[in-house]
Amino acid sequence: MPNEAAAGLLKHYLEQRQVAGQTHVGLRPGVMEKLGGPGKQSAPPMRAPAPPRASEAASPQAAAMFRETLSAPPPTAQPAARAAAPAAAPLPSATPSLIEVPGGSKAEKLSALAQMAEQSPEARALGTLRETMVFAVGSAEAEIMFVGEAPGAEEERQGEPFVGPAGQKLTGIIKAMGLDRSEVYISNICKFRPAMENQGWSNRPPTPVEMRTCLPYIFTEIDIIQPKILVALGKTAAEGLGLSGPVSKLRGQFYQVQGLPTMVTFHPSYILREEKLADGGRQAKRQVWEDMLQVMEKVGLPITEKQRNFFKK
Ligand code: URA
Repeated sequence: MPNEAAAGLLKHYLEQRQVAGQTHVGLRPGVMEKLGGPGKQSAPPMRAPAPPRASEAASPQAAAMFRETLSAPPPTAQPAARAAAPAAAPLPSATPSLIEVPGGSKAEKLSALAQMAEQSPEARALGTLRETMVFAVGSAEAEIMFVGEAPGAEEERQGEPFVGPAGQKLTGIIKAMGLDRSEVYISNICKFRPAMENQGWSNRPPTPVEMRTCLPYIFTEIDIIQPKILVALGKTAAEGLGLSGPVSKLRGQFYQVQGLPTMVTFHPSYILREEKLADGGRQAKRQVWEDMLQVMEKVGLPITEKQRNFFKK
């Protein structure tokens, strides 16, 4: 077969793999260009952590906002279907080693760490994670750090964690706490959206192997930020931080992770699912809110009567 035809076939095959979300095909830089194509699309630039903003006091509408954001169906599409993750080896129980990062301030260190995560040879070598790295968002000086599992379709598109339907729930919870997203730090255990065949808008949780390749980043983020408190959102996040068990059993009390008090609570996507039940997800919302009241107390945030009584009626 003439070389040109072979190159064309190879290029077509690689493009198909990319369309299927299998973007970690081991190619040397420039190979696609040599094959006559446009080459790999570069990932959207990572957002640097936002500078800390002046605290927004809990507004008088906080209760209404909380109920609205936690009760209204998400304004965008339904949460994407989640496929079963492929089976893999269990996570190590030992704390992953921290990464040495250059830089003076916390923000500089986070920025350097994000650049390292972008390269992440171990994660990229797996070939099961997608191309775009989604690092974190929020304040490097935050007292509260939320940890989720992995970016989904919308997070990948916008290059920011928790901006899809579940993210909008989380934003509502943060607002109900009297805070703004820019005053907390929001990150994920896994820095890349797990890939699937015929992915479309579907998402899946990361496998233990995929999580393991990213754990040094989240543990180093915790080490840099030194928040007063960690909040693990859902089972995968809890597991990544070394806490295993059903969220329903883990929630409601503090654990120690890297020497920091850590609350486990339900993932906001669980609230989205529970909202379809007869009680509109009231029980799940109340439980998450009780966990957040404990978090607020622990960090010394003011709690109004209204906030305390959101679910007492
Ligand atoms: N779910 C997560 O766990 N993380 C995100 O960033 C978005 C949805």
